[in-house]
Amino acid sequence: IGLCEAGPRINCYPEPSANQNLCESRGCIWGPTQDTSDGTPWCYFKDGVGYNLASQNGSTYNLRKNNGPKNPWGEDFQNIQIRTSTIGSVLNVKIGLDGRYEPPVDFPRATLASSETLSFTTASSDDLFWFSVIRNSTNRKIFDTSLGGLIFSDQFLQLSTYLPSENMYGWGENAHQSLKHNFSRYLTWGMLARDQPPNSLNLDTMNLYGVHPFYMCLEPDGNAHGVFIFNSNPQEVTTAPGPSLIYRTIGGNLDIYFFPGPTPALVTQQYLEFIGKPFLPAYWALGYQLSRYGYSGLDEMKQRVGAVRDAGIPLDIAVSDIDYMNRYKDFSTNDKWSGFEDYVNQMHGWNMKLIPIFDPAVEADYLPFQRAQSFGAKFIEWETYSQVQTDIQKLYPMANKTKIMLGVVWPDNHVAFPDFLDSTGRTQAWWRTELELYHSKLTFDGIWIDMNEPANFGTNEQHPWYFDSADHPDDAPLFCPTNGSNRWDLPPYQTHAVYYYGGNQNNAYLSSKTLCLAGVQNNGSYRFYDTKNLYGLTEAISTQQALLDVTGKRGAVVSRSTFPSAGRYAGHWLGDNTARWEDLRTSVIGAQEFNLFGIPYVGSDVCGFLGTSNEELCLRWQQMGAFHSFFRNHNTLREPAQDPAVWPSVAAATKTANLFRYQYLPYLFSLHFQASQSGLTVVRPVLFEYPSDSATFDLGYQFMWGSNIMVAPVVYQGAVTTNLYLPNDVWYSLFNYMYGSRIDPGYITVPSPTTSRIPVFVRGGSAIPRQTPTTTTTMSRFNPFELLIAPCQLGKAVGVLYWDDGQRIVDSFDTHDYHQFDFNFVSTSSDAQLTITRTRKGSVTLPTLDIIEIFNYPSPPNFRSFLLNGKSVNVNVQSSTYSGITKTLYISTQFL
Ligand code: GLC
Repeated sequence: IGLCEAGPRINCYPEPSANQNLCESRGCIWGPTQDTSDGTPWCYFKDGVGYNLASQNGSTYNLRKNNGPKNPWGEDFQNIQIRTSTIGSVLNVKIGLDGRYEPPVDFPRATLASSETLSFTTASSDDLFWFSVIRNSTNRKIFDTSLGGLIFSDQFLQLSTYLPSENMYGWGENAHQSLKHNFSRYLTWGMLARDQPPNSLNLDTMNLYGVHPFYMCLEPDGNAHGVFIFNSNPQEVTTAPGPSLIYRTIGGNLDIYFFPGPTPALVTQQYLEFIGKPFLPAYWALGYQLSRYGYSGLDEMKQRVGAVRDAGIPLDIAVSDIDYMNRYKDFSTNDKWSGFEDYVNQMHGWNMKLIPIFDPAVEADYLPFQRAQSFGAKFIEWETYSQVQTDIQKLYPMANKTKIMLGVVWPDNHVAFPDFLDSTGRTQAWWRTELELYHSKLTFDGIWIDMNEPANFGTNEQHPWYFDSADHPDDAPLFCPTNGSNRWDLPPYQTHAVYYYGGNQNNAYLSSKTLCLAGVQNNGSYRFYDTKNLYGLTEAISTQQALLDVTGKRGAVVSRSTFPSAGRYAGHWLGDNTARWEDLRTSVIGAQEFNLFGIPYVGSDVCGFLGTSNEELCLRWQQMGAFHSFFRNHNTLREPAQDPAVWPSVAAATKTANLFRYQYLPYLFSLHFQASQSGLTVVRPVLFEYPSDSATFDLGYQFMWGSNIMVAPVVYQGAVTTNLYLPNDVWYSLFNYMYGSRIDPGYITVPSPTTSRIPVFVRGGSAIPRQTPTTTTTMSRFNPFELLIAPCQLGKAVGVLYWDDGQRIVDSFDTHDYHQFDFNFVSTSSDAQLTITRTRKGSVTLPTLDIIEIFNYPSPPNFRSFLLNGKSVNVNVQSSTYSGITKTLYISTQFL
């Protein structure tokens, strides 16, 4: 794309404060634009940045740096290779060099059979080589690097492509205000794991806690494909007009995987077969969780848990934040929490569970740290003894004379960060032992892992605010050797995570709020610069294994930092949001995105973490959160209580919303079962079900619960009506307003007062298992099953139920002990027939099926015969009610 041609510009000065001189000294074009609102870069590369094809050997292409513009951020490698291969239906295009860093992540790399295939084609003009990826069935280019801009040096790699459409979803972790990306402007999104609270107020492109270089794109004809770039270095992507993408990373290779779909659901399934499918949470983990940071002691926790229980609100899980620890030290208990063990036992008696927090870093001066040493556990280290901050190290006899990199987190004294990439396994064994010892005192059921980017306070800051607080009177912050000599902490290109740090470009380093990237792991075999983004994933792997070993049950782990495949081991919450309507909205989108990333056990801090919540916001957030798999009300230090019992209206709405959730738990659990077994999503974008209906492409604030239920939360202050879109199908209302009645597709506005449930609809053609709810998931499991039948136009409905004991560890679904039932309903003018087939028999005792509710039933029950598995059921007036208005038949008799 030359100076006079319209088209995307590839930024030659993505760092702040570009000017004409600096730009031209890079050999680039300075081209100011009149309109600055679309973010067009003023400094951009001349044509022809890239490589030419030197030779080809089968599917290996040897490229040589061409005579085009040079790389401003390092010496271009003169020779690089592209290797292409197929793994089942997945196409891999790997651009790079042997011997460079490869992320040590063990993906299953399994594939699904697909009717679709992709092929790799190359072309060149003058001395510029480019390639495309083509969908063979339609001949559509789904990836097209003719845009130019391929750069490959040791610490700067760039690849650009045109996209076949603007309907692109994913990339993370960022707070997105719309589900679909916007290509009418240039926007760069940072990807570096950092302790960075999302800012949903203004369009914000900051990097957050995890890294997910994955997107899904819908082609103009409705076919979908996915692209995953397997790279763990600090990185970024620019979404630009064209539509196009410019991807930059500062290490590793460009190892790209293309998933052919052709439906959005298949793209996710193919991606998750490859990286690993999500873990199945314990059944109780789908219950409601109450948390806060800053309980003054156990008494306050008891009081708030008691208040919620007394209000009759279904509640399964109490969460203990760092307050329960003694001076925030892992594996210790605060005096103000004496009797915690007894309370946990008491809660167990109420069928409640405990999820405590554990932070990865341990103080470098107490017993667990000493035990780590005797285990031979590893910590993140300096590369050489000369780098060690000896003045600090000397304060800690246990860490003195080691290379351990000491930092500062919540505890009073300095902390060390366990190295979960330790290939000897000793670190993991020590971590497990600590959890085991602590579990022998406090019988927790799940584990919350936080601060695992990893977070470190005050790095490179002369006067960190935190250290002035009473908790940290004399801690010395960590300083990285950044004075030019250190290529890891101050690489030639530092990415958006530094150039856009909360809008504050001063004081930003890659190591801000984290450890020095010059550090090493696994005895020096990994540079932290390369592996930092894997810290949360590797901690989650070790923690899940420890939880399984220690409790003997599957439980659930929830992690703040994630990387592709983290969903195999843990869920995620969307981090330190703020009690604002904007944050409620971005969390609706965030949960859908994390389902695309293979982490369906996800949700937000309900009612908002930072800031002061309020009655209306909290009520609406509770109502929405009741549809997120991870469902936790959480609040920060010193903010007033915001659990639902604080306001009678919120208590009432939460009780209603939670009872609805608990009623549909068999359905939600079945969705998670399918996610674990087949890589399906749980909370999913509407477009997954309607990929050829363009009205669904950007419905960020509505979502599907599986393929059968549509949820339209209220996300605007003061709203008492909701405008929503129902795609072309038969829909029935499941909320108070006109319960059970048929609603026509299209845009509709429905009343949604705070006293009602939020708008929820069931799609025609669905048979949905549910259960009479009660206030814990454990007790709900004993109640009779119910079946909701919502027929489609042709009077048919299908559905499925998966059921196991809710806590047994899943080694493999082939051997796992579970039941599976398939439901099949057909209604004709003469009768209604329901067939229930047990397709898998487990050993768990099942409640009976006592209630069947059928929508759009044409006539009162005694007018037609009702057959169950071919036998006539006596549906008499005593056992059933029928509404002639909504045509709902409700039968209450023991069927099975
Ligand atoms: C971090 C977590 C937050 C937690 C706090 C104290 O900010 O994100 O959820 O409450 O630390 O542990």
